[in-house]
Amino acid sequence: MNLLVCGGAGFIGSNFVRLMLEREPGCRIAILDALTYAGNMTTIADVLADPRCRFTHGQIQDAHTVAELVKAKKITHIVNFAAETHNDRSLLESGSFIQTDVFGVHVLLEATRKFGLERLVHVSTDEVYGSIAEGRFTEQSPLEPNTPYSASKAGGDLQARAHFVSFGTPVIVTRGGNNYGPFQYPEKLIPFFVTRLMDGKKVPLYGDGSQVREWIHVMDHCEGIEKVLRKGEPGQVYNIGDDNERANHEVVRILLEETGRDAALVKSIPDPRRGAHDKRYSMACDRVRALGWMPRRSFHEHLRETVRWYREHEAWWRPIAESEAYESFVKAFYGPSLGEDL
Ligand code: DAU
Repeated sequence: MNLLVCGGAGFIGSNFVRLMLEREPGCRIAILDALTYAGNMTTIADVLADPRCRFTHGQIQDAHTVAELVKAKKITHIVNFAAETHNDRSLLESGSFIQTDVFGVHVLLEATRKFGLERLVHVSTDEVYGSIAEGRFTEQSPLEPNTPYSASKAGGDLQARAHFVSFGTPVIVTRGGNNYGPFQYPEKLIPFFVTRLMDGKKVPLYGDGSQVREWIHVMDHCEGIEKVLRKGEPGQVYNIGDDNERANHEVVRILLEETGRDAALVKSIPDPRRGAHDKRYSMACDRVRALGWMPRRSFHEHLRETVRWYREHEAWWRPIAESEAYESFVKAFYGPSLGEDL
């Protein structure tokens, strides 16, 4: 398999590259990554030491770069992780989300069709369904995204659907829950809180923290994507979740325990997502389970392991947390509510 992994220098993408190198001895992997604020060469230093893996700096929106790469590396399969992914950032600026998450997907679909690739797996999110008060989303649930980010992901998913219906392009969409694990950029709940708590800083809990997320360890998610890549049916959508629903306040309590910090560091702030803050996500995942996949990692144990990973990899996250781009986002987004506690 000659695999193009788009967004392979990011959180989920880099973990997926590691998995494929281990599981598929004969594979060749081309990583394409734009190295935006969330992509990082230190994240993939280990995989680039493997001669089967090569890196190209570029955007999925750039059709020329994608085409040259597909031809030069004789690509047979694409897995797309490249995306703007942070809801909070999409509330400050959403143009880049449309560019990457909608137009970028269109470019990959066109390349898949034009060069007759065997398969494109497009990695999406449960957020495209919106919020569900009771029960679970199935792959047939309507798409009702509530933030500019989730709407951009829904746009990519619909492009994929239309390409399959119109041209028979062999594309498959996966929709994952909230991921946690090593190498997650410290702006999302878990790594943001862990790195700040380790420094003894206050952390901003949105509202009363009663929102429920379905958490899945990044390696379980990657194993699900691998299963879909090998066995999934073109034109289909596969939900990938762990049936592990937790209210934010519960996750935060575990993080306090694991970092040994006092609850006084948690500051409840007016919800910056306001009406766009989805109350609950929950997915039925029978379809991917029917392919033979099952999540294997228990939440509490692996959340503890994730906290340990951040403690032991300060050299990875400290330069990010002290970068100007990171600090200016944190200041712009949280400054008004955290004030001097920032
Ligand atoms: O559900 C899948 C999605 O999960 C992915 O598509 C997104 O890319 C990923 O960012 C994540 O979206 P969320 O918005 O759920 O993740 P986030 O970590 O930003 O927030 C998780 C919950 O924690 C959410 O209810 C908001 C809350 N939160 C988040 C942050 C960053 C806080 O209370 N305080 C915070 O500082």
